[in-house]
Amino acid sequence: MEDLRLDSLPGVGPVTTKKLSDAGIHNVMDLIVRGPVEIAEITGMDKDTADNIVEKARQCLVEGGMISKDFVSATEIYKRRQQIGKITTGTECLDLLLDGGLETQGLTEVYGEFGSGKTQFCHTMCVTVQKPKEEGGLDGTVLYIDTENTFRPERIVSIAKAFGMDPEKALDRIMVARAYNSSHQTLILEESSQMIRENNIKLLIVDSAVGLFRAEYLGRGTLSVRQQRLNKFVHLLVRIAETYNCAALATNQVMASPDVFFGDPTRPIGGNVVAHTSTYRIYFKKSGKKRIARMVDSPHHPEQEVIFGLGEAGVIDPDSETKKKSIMTPKSSKVEAVKPEVKVEPKSDSSVDAGSKTEDIPKVKVEPKSDSSVDAGSKTEDIPKVKVESKTDSVDADAKIEDIPEDSE
Ligand SMILES: Nc1ncnc2c1ncn2[C@@H]1O[C@H](COP(=O)(O)OP(=O)(O)OP(=O)(O)O)[C@@H](O)[C@H]1O
Ligand SMILES: [Mg+2]
Repeated sequence: MEDLRLDSLPGVGPVTTKKLSDAGIHNVMDLIVRGPVEIAEITGMDKDTADNIVEKARQCLVEGGMISKDFVSATEIYKRRQQIGKITTGTECLDLLLDGGLETQGLTEVYGEFGSGKTQFCHTMCVTVQKPKEEGGLDGTVLYIDTENTFRPERIVSIAKAFGMDPEKALDRIMVARAYNSSHQTLILEESSQMIRENNIKLLIVDSAVGLFRAEYLGRGTLSVRQQRLNKFVHLLVRIAETYNCAALATNQVMASPDVFFGDPTRPIGGNVVAHTSTYRIYFKKSGKKRIARMVDSPHHPEQEVIFGLGEAGVIDPDSETKKKSIMTPKSSKVEAVKPEVKVEPKSDSSVDAGSKTEDIPKVKVEPKSDSSVDAGSKTEDIPKVKVESKTDSVDADAKIEDIPEDSE
């Protein structure tokens, strides 16, 4: 990748190259992925200089045919979308839900309560992405960012065996990065582009994307900072997936929220920051030994749900009897869509916010808790008042009162 060297850009000499590489920017692609605002921030350059360098990087990549021009024909967009790859989940039911599998050039968020199978799903995808294309994989490798120390190579071995693959080779093709705090988690991603390019990484997993942010930013005072940093992380994830044509898979735990009295009292911790950026969101729910997966808010998938199971082979199809009933329409379903948390900062990067719905609807506000999203331990006698108020500020309220489902359980 000689042609992507920073000093191949006109006007970028050794001093600037050093300044950039000290800040973790190692090649021309990194400049595009990070953007001028961030480049200025991390290198201390003034904004005009950063703008200039990023613009040169863009021109260089456009000339090299590596990224598209500002104005592109629909044909070109169509061609780019044709390059979207799909990674089978190894199950009929989840492939059906995802219309073939996890897509590259996009982020899929899986959210659900503890033990619902998010990590098992991630492990399964680590193996299926390695399958050859004719078997539904992308013959690719994986970058797994493990923030909760729940990556288990033993599971990879048993899943690979179940698919008749060589377990050792399967392990070899998964790079695991253990993130110790949210800044480290972001840094790993910022530093990942070279590795992604050189190792044919086709799947980028962050399990969990939100956990460390949640643990580090508690209380109302830090909530907006948390959302901002999480926002930055998630947008970076999306840009990397788009740039390198790989699939991004992020998990997000949900927890009981005391302010929801009807339906499923859970919602994703990351709230709207993750929701609005994800290309696809899937909700996992436990139902005895079975699991239910629901497609939520997809731009082009029907809202449906399927039943799946967990086993030695990771996520598995349910037994045949359940299978017949496994595809349900939302009306007949027992699982209700979960509304994400209300609080969110205004978006800074509108290019990836196509799915964001800002509606003029009342929001549900919880008092007197300082941060309702982190109230796992709240006792029942502490149940706060639910207050409905009309929307006055820039908050994206999408908790629709009329949408709150009837209690189905
Ligand atoms: N080898 C196995 N065979 C069958 N089921 C398994 C196996 N390993 C794990 N499981 C199932 O997976 C469940 C745990 O799922 P998983 O760790 O994916 O949950 P999670 O959604 O990631 O939870 P958390 O939010 O706590 O991270 C266990 O409760 C068990 O039912
Ligand atoms: Mg997990």
